[in-house]
Amino acid sequence: MTNYTISPDVASALKSFSLPEKLGFGLVLAPVMYSVEYADGQWGKGALTPYGPIEIAPGARALHYGEFVFEGMKAYRAGVAWPNLFRAQDNFERLARSAERLAMPPVPENLFFEGIDAVAGAMADFIPTGDGKSLYLRPFLYGSEPGYLLRNSNTFRFMVIANPVEAYASGPLKVAIERKDVRAAVGGVGVAKASANYAASLRASNSTLARGYTIALWLDGAEHRYIQELSGMNVFAVINGELHTPQLDGAILPGITRDSLVTLARHRGYTVVERPMLIDELLQQIQSGTCTEVFACGTAAIVAPIGVLGDADGRDHIPAAVDVVAQELRQALLAIQERRAPDPFNWTRDVSRSSRD
Ligand SMILES: Cc1ncc(COP(=O)(O)O)c(C=O)c1O
Repeated sequence: MTNYTISPDVASALKSFSLPEKLGFGLVLAPVMYSVEYADGQWGKGALTPYGPIEIAPGARALHYGEFVFEGMKAYRAGVAWPNLFRAQDNFERLARSAERLAMPPVPENLFFEGIDAVAGAMADFIPTGDGKSLYLRPFLYGSEPGYLLRNSNTFRFMVIANPVEAYASGPLKVAIERKDVRAAVGGVGVAKASANYAASLRASNSTLARGYTIALWLDGAEHRYIQELSGMNVFAVINGELHTPQLDGAILPGITRDSLVTLARHRGYTVVERPMLIDELLQQIQSGTCTEVFACGTAAIVAPIGVLGDADGRDHIPAAVDVVAQELRQALLAIQERRAPDPFNWTRDVSRSSRD
C-alpha cells in the first residue's frame, strides 16, 4: 500500500517504455513523475502519474523570481537486483537548506522519500546496470503562486522526474577559467541548489563552449582570485601528493560527492586540505609540476579528470597527469555506489519496495 495515488495510466506508460541503447545524460526521460502540492499551509496527497507537461500560472513566482530549488541524485542497480540510493538523506537535507535560503517551506522528509521511492521503484526494471549507469533523479520545489509583489508564494509544488543515464562526461574536461562573470557570492544563493545560480552561469557556459572548452571554472565574487567550483561540479587538485579542494566558503555548493571524496581519500591514506585556493597559484603549481593533477566531481559526472585549464588570455595550462588519482577515487566511489564493494560509511540504502507491495 502506498500513501500516494498511482494514476491508472502509469502501468501502460511503463509498459510501452524501453531503454534505448544510447542514454547520454538527460536525453532519455523516465515515463513517470511524482507530484505533490502545498496550499493553505499544508501539503496535499502525492501522485505518481505518467511523465508529461504541467500547468503553471504565467505569473508564478518560480518563473519570474526564481523561486525554484532542486536536487540531483542517483539510484543504482549495477551490482544488485533492487535499486539503491547513494547518500539520499544528504540530498534531502540539502534541499531543505536550499528551501530555507529562499524562505520556501521545506519538503517534509516523508514526502521527499515518497517521491524518490515512487519514481525509482516504478523505474526499477529500467535502471541501466552497466558500469557508471544509473537512474538520475531530479527532485524540485517551486513557488506556484502568481504575483509581482516580492515575497514568497503561498502555494508550492514538489516534483520528482528522472532519467536513465550514463556518466555525464566522457574524456577529460577542458576547463575555461571565467575571469569576468561571477556565478555566486558569499551571502548570496550559491550555497543553495537554486535555479538562479545556473542562470548566472549560462552566458559563460555558452562562451566556454564556443571557445572549444567543456565547462567554466568560477572564481570568487569579491576578488576574482579564488577558485570556487565548476558550473556543476566541485574541484580537487593533487599538490605534492596531497588533495586540495576549495573550502566551503559560503558561496560554493557543498557537494555530496566532494564530501564523499574527502572522506574516502582520507580513509585511503591521503592528506586532504580544504582551504582558499588562489587560481594564479594553482596555475604556477601546474607549470612547476608541484600540482600534478586536477579533477572535478559531482553526482552527474562522479569523478571527472581535467585535461586542460584554459585562461582568458588564451593560454592553456596542462597538468602533467590526467585521471590517475581521479581514476582511483572514481573506481573506489563507484564500487560503493554500485554495491560492488563494502560500504564502510553507510552511504547507500535501498529504494523502498512499497510501490511494489
Ligand atoms: C554548482 C554545483 N557544484 C557542485 C555540484 C556537485 O554536487 P553533488 O556532488 O552533490 O552532486 C553540483 C551538482 O549538483 C553543482 O550543481
